[in-house]
Amino acid sequence: MPAPSSSSSSSSVCTFLLIFLLAVRASNCAAKATKNTRPPRQLSADYYAKKCPQLEQIVGSVTSQQFKEAPVSGPATIRLFFHDCFVEGCDASILISTKPGSKQLAEKDAEDNKDLRVEAFQTINMAKELVERKCPGIVSCADILAVAARDFVHLAGGPYYQVKKGRWDGKISMASRVQYNIPRANFTIDQQLKLFNSKGLTLEDLVVLSGAHTFGFAHCKQFVGRLYNYRGTKQPDPDMDPRLLKALQMSCPQFGGNSDIIAPFDVTTPFMFDHAYYGNLEAKLGLLASDQALVLDPRTKPLVQQLGKDKQKFFQAFSVAMEKMGSIGVKRGRRHGEKRRYCSMHA
Ligand code: HEM
Repeated sequence: MPAPSSSSSSSSVCTFLLIFLLAVRASNCAAKATKNTRPPRQLSADYYAKKCPQLEQIVGSVTSQQFKEAPVSGPATIRLFFHDCFVEGCDASILISTKPGSKQLAEKDAEDNKDLRVEAFQTINMAKELVERKCPGIVSCADILAVAARDFVHLAGGPYYQVKKGRWDGKISMASRVQYNIPRANFTIDQQLKLFNSKGLTLEDLVVLSGAHTFGFAHCKQFVGRLYNYRGTKQPDPDMDPRLLKALQMSCPQFGGNSDIIAPFDVTTPFMFDHAYYGNLEAKLGLLASDQALVLDPRTKPLVQQLGKDKQKFFQAFSVAMEKMGSIGVKRGRRHGEKRRYCSMHA
């Protein structure tokens, strides 16, 4: 389905949205600013060619099954990968569970990670278990996460790109390192850019990677401010289409709503990885203030317009940007890393 223009997206959009708002509820329910401007450390596409040649096939059997049985696993796993890479680098530190009785919470239990879906963790754990049976002690959880994220992009209709591998798992996972490394839904472009720059990512990477919001869902609390009291004005955000506003207000009251209610990022094709996200922004159909900001800022608007017109350009740029994001803070060797048997526990 093409990206809607503001006039063509009338009732069908809202009907679609409402169906999702009513039918889909959340099933459950990021500091060390790793300044990484150095080139990635020798990741390679054939890293496991000798020791675990079936790796991608094994992970693929799990991701394709999950895609059928629990489609929310797709967007959830891509978000999990993003939250992993932005805190301590792409080292599966997000998968570690807090030790029972420990006062020091692991990354996963930080406030900003509370809404990461259990289906994403389950996908990686299932894949790891199968991989361990065929190639014990060889493959890192961090690489499995990178491969699974790519699989889901492709399964949902997005590009297929090679995943470079060779990441080791990290030894550090601390909730206290999350808050300043994960962007918030009300961040301005300056705030988003500062954070992305601190990870070695550019303004273009920010626009392109935000395109992951072409699928998946967000909880009311992430955008309710836009619906009733935008930036303290006691008015809704003028940059939201009035029909979308109305539909969202019906599901997300200002006070006392159900905290499990979620809304799709992309009201036109919520389960498809396409470029509709950018067309939606131009039609004032962005869900988060941070999304809509991309079309309001003169630095990012031209790229939003280009990507909205050209799906192939988006797919190409997204593949490159995912490889870049996937190289943030990569660890190699026993001094800095480990290979875990279980992704949720240090080795
Ligand atoms: C640029 C700044 C970003 C901000 C402010 C942001 C914020 C958010 C928020 C608030 C949610 C909703 C969480 C919830 O309520 O459950 C979300 C979901 C999501 N984010 Fe982002 N995000 C950003 C960038 C990214 C990037 C770079 C990626 C991946 C490359 C990504 C992938 C996703 C996906 C796929 C979801 C849907 C998850 C699901 O349905 O379970 N986001 N994001």
